[in-house]
Amino acid sequence: MQVAIDGPASAGKSTVAKIVANKLSFVYIDTGAMYRACTLIARDHDLEYGNEKGILAAIDEDGIKLEPGEKGQKVIVAGKDVSLEIRTPEITAHVSEVSALPGVRAKMVDLQRQLAGSTNVIMDGRDIGTTVLPKADVKIFLVASARSRAERRMLDWQEKGIEAKQSLEEIEADISKRDYLDSHREISPLKKADDAIEIDSTHMTIDQVVDAILTEIKKKQK
Ligand code: DC
Repeated sequence: MQVAIDGPASAGKSTVAKIVANKLSFVYIDTGAMYRACTLIARDHDLEYGNEKGILAAIDEDGIKLEPGEKGQKVIVAGKDVSLEIRTPEITAHVSEVSALPGVRAKMVDLQRQLAGSTNVIMDGRDIGTTVLPKADVKIFLVASARSRAERRMLDWQEKGIEAKQSLEEIEADISKRDYLDSHREISPLKKADDAIEIDSTHMTIDQVVDAILTEIKKKQK
């Protein structure tokens, strides 16, 4: 069984995907974390964020691995756990640019398909239902208003102990900008798959979203 969850930044994809994966003992794959790892690699190698060739070589040199950890998936770059470092505002500010590079996308999509293999998997991102796993059994497109996503992002930082250097309005503006970039890039833009089910989580609790997704999965398991 393959479950694809796509949607804009901070719509709660990874939170609900992790819970659903735990409940069903599915493997969870956070593809946004992989593009964040590529962005971190670019920075650590002092490369311009548009330097596709350089970034691809640096990815080959360092290697990106996903490992199960206590708090969900751990991201390992060059043998080091970078799970927290990839969430900083600096990386967040540049990830749209790096994830728009065709060669980087091709490399990550290959890796994502390999990781999915033939196991039960729940994968979240922007192009899972359209490009990475077009034959996924269940496709969810999770959306929420930009303001509520900004509020969630701020809470998330507080919980992770990351200092918020921006106001709520600035975070909301960043989210809207990233929505625009993610939806308007040439390759694999953020787009609802024709056969995806849209869930608007603006006024829903996490549990309600989880239940809605579990219901869709159960329909396909019958
Ligand atoms: O979900 P996130 O905020 O961690 O994603 C980080 C960035 O990676 C986001 O700007 C869009 C990009 N991304 C993508 O292009 N394709 C994916 N499958 C997942 C994320």
